[in-house]
Amino acid sequence: MSATSVIGLQWGDEAKGKIVDLLTEQHDIVVRYLGGNNAGHTVIFGGETYKLSLLPAGILHDSVVSVIATGVVINPKAFLEELGRIVERRGNVPPERMLISDRAHVIFPYHMAEEAAFEKARGGDAIGTTMRGIGTCYRDKAGRTHAIRMGDLINPDRLRRRLEEIVPQKNRAIAALDDDFVPFEVDVIYEEYSNYADQLRPYVTDTTSFLHKAVAAGKKLLFEGAQGCLLDIDHGSFPYVTSSNSSGCGIHSGSGVSERVISKMIGIVKAYTTRVGGGPFPTELDDEIGQHIRDVGNEYGTVTGRPRRCGWFDAVATGYGARLSGVDCIAVMLVDVLDGLDEIKICEAYDFNGVRTTDFPSHVEDLAQMKPIYRTVPGWKTDITGIRKRADLPENALKYVETVAELVGYPVEIISVGPDREQTILE
Ligand code: IMP
Repeated sequence: MSATSVIGLQWGDEAKGKIVDLLTEQHDIVVRYLGGNNAGHTVIFGGETYKLSLLPAGILHDSVVSVIATGVVINPKAFLEELGRIVERRGNVPPERMLISDRAHVIFPYHMAEEAAFEKARGGDAIGTTMRGIGTCYRDKAGRTHAIRMGDLINPDRLRRRLEEIVPQKNRAIAALDDDFVPFEVDVIYEEYSNYADQLRPYVTDTTSFLHKAVAAGKKLLFEGAQGCLLDIDHGSFPYVTSSNSSGCGIHSGSGVSERVISKMIGIVKAYTTRVGGGPFPTELDDEIGQHIRDVGNEYGTVTGRPRRCGWFDAVATGYGARLSGVDCIAVMLVDVLDGLDEIKICEAYDFNGVRTTDFPSHVEDLAQMKPIYRTVPGWKTDITGIRKRADLPENALKYVETVAELVGYPVEIISVGPDREQTILE
């Protein structure tokens, strides 16, 4: 039992990267197991800011092995560009420090084209995806007939055979959806992706077997979640979700390692709520307080730059995410963003057609009807970014964090009061 996991309990962007980075030095291997270059992690390391998307935060630590496991969908170009940026700033990353699963699925240009056509067809009801071809790649994985995995990519014959079969079918399907579509050519994609394959081949391996051996050898694993519980394909606010199991449920399937090896699961929450993309958001603040949170918290997407929708902390939604994942404790992030507010609200229950409930609904049509029932607490109106001990927090700030713990139902072990590693209250 030597593994830790870090899971976002809301709609993503909970500042997981900072906690993963803090924990990385106590671990041997960092495993990313879901999503793709739709995710965005900002990590401040050695005083410098790194924006990571597909690479695990372990990449910044020379003594750690980073694993992109089977459940991830990989855009080879995005991977190589991101790795290139890290190499430029931090030096070479040898293949034994960066492993990619040979079972992980590959994103091709037609995935982006299909996604654009699907989103356009939904008009005002668009999912609001990151347009990275994530959902359409997972769609092909589930469909099987049009899927290409990393193991296929690095085998030239298999790659060509698969593309010859798939590309003409994709061209017909996308042309039916989009009149302006320019068909893809097998040779062009083959050439581009063969080039990526040559660069990626040294990194591709059977990561499942690597991880099984690592567990048997007593190595310490850190599972790095991406997105958040409410974006989980099965349990989140469907269909305004991502296409994989972004709650704790995805660790086992995405990595091939049983979650029974995890001795500590840390749920990460923001001291308020944000979401990007479409879908109902009961505690959304479409006013100057929402804008204040967006400005102070710099709530703009790491990947797409989109302004994030901001609102009060929703303990119903977050508690659901925490129970889904089975967390041991929570880390409350970005508490300092609330420093300037006179009073702060926390949604402790929903009013659903006159009935009080703390259940998160199965359907977004019902989520859209939920009226938040708030508990209002006084603000602290003090700059807390320099505080390093719980006992030194202003009384109202501590009360706020304790209320979050009480309503979510799990103890708070970490309080973050700024982006730097030092701005973290652990005791
Ligand atoms: P997709 O993952 O690109 O298919 O997008 C589906 C939904 O998940 C959209 O609402 C995205 O904004 C959201 N999403 C995907 N990745 C992230 C993330 O890392 N943070 C927050 N939202 C995300």
